[in-house]
Amino acid sequence: MELNIEQIRKDFPILSQSVFGKPLVYLDNAATTQKPLSVIRKIEDIYSTINANVHRGVHHLSQLATESHEEARKTVQRYVNAASSGEIIFTSGTTDSINLVASGFCRSQCKPGDEIIITTMEHHSNIVPWQIQRDISGIEIKVVPLRENGEIRLEDIEELISSKTRLIAVAHVSNVLGTINPIAGIIRLGHNYNIPVLIDAAQSVQHLPIDVQALDCDFLAFSSHKMYGPTGVGILYGKERWLEKMPPYRGGGEMIAHVSFEKTTFNELPYKFEAGTPDYVGSTALGEAIRYIENWGLEKIHRYEDRLLQYATEQLQQIEGMQIIGTSPHKSSVISFLVGGIHPYDMGMLLDQLGIALRTGHHCAQPLMDALGIEGTLRASFAFYNTEEEVDVLVEGIQKVVKMF
Ligand SMILES: Cc1ncc(COP(=O)(O)O)c(C=O)c1O
Repeated sequence: MELNIEQIRKDFPILSQSVFGKPLVYLDNAATTQKPLSVIRKIEDIYSTINANVHRGVHHLSQLATESHEEARKTVQRYVNAASSGEIIFTSGTTDSINLVASGFCRSQCKPGDEIIITTMEHHSNIVPWQIQRDISGIEIKVVPLRENGEIRLEDIEELISSKTRLIAVAHVSNVLGTINPIAGIIRLGHNYNIPVLIDAAQSVQHLPIDVQALDCDFLAFSSHKMYGPTGVGILYGKERWLEKMPPYRGGGEMIAHVSFEKTTFNELPYKFEAGTPDYVGSTALGEAIRYIENWGLEKIHRYEDRLLQYATEQLQQIEGMQIIGTSPHKSSVISFLVGGIHPYDMGMLLDQLGIALRTGHHCAQPLMDALGIEGTLRASFAFYNTEEEVDVLVEGIQKVVKMF
């Protein structure tokens, strides 16, 4: 059975809106996805029926809230096929997850002069946490160069590996170029040199099936809000043996075993890394978002989105002056582009007047923009509720704007 897109669109109330009198065409899904009714209702349901702080109370509601939070952890565990739910840490998002690893890993595993490898196409969230640690722990950052069509190559990574390399941190899918990086090969390469690998899955976990055990990946970071779940929640998957070695990131709340003024001992995994009241409403709603994805089937979603990407690429290429940034044959649902000499911001503003929501700017990847020698791009990014008709509206919109210049 193929996806029933008409049905799917009805599940997302926001999509039936008009903007400036035009039907909304929402193509900013790499920034955040819209939420299905089941997720919205779940949030309302929790606040209406079981709201209570988790892990703290013996009373009925607290037990129910704790069960629903821990059930969500198991849902995430199943989704990425982690070996244990103790390896699933709730954070506030991808950025928070990477900061947690950068802090804990550098403090416990690195000495001054040790090296972390990242790539030119990283989001600031996978650059700045390492720079902060560079100032604190004295690590150095090595950057894998970008090849012509927006790809990175294994041999370029291998070239940078030295006896001082401690970790490789790389995006699965670039939020600008759409490139799907060869993470299985990168992880194998790292492990050949006994180097763990962190995958930033912010742009992949909603599009491509990920099995952390099959990949043998050491850390995986992603955000709920980019996968049809609520904002404010994210996940860090970490292999138990690494998480056990890392010190806590923040203090207070459920992360303690015992506190005295002289000394504090820490809780077991995953709680060691979850300081303060966790977002138990957000976690439960993320579990609901995962169920929504699973109900339609990630394989089918991926096939549909891939066809949409091909269609959109073909149609956009028909436009005179169109320059697509990122032309790897291995791409996910992101198309960055420039048209003629038109500034992305001007084009974005005019498309907005036509009800079309696109992203413009550097997309939190300024070093990538520098490497490409541009200031920014327009970016259309797709979810499985988007349609070919919406792509046609985008193409017509761009043509209208081009005529105005
Ligand atoms: C590749 C990538 N990494 C990290 C992030 C940061 O995600 P968040 O803002 O949810 O922490 C994003 C967000 O766009 C992203 O695209």
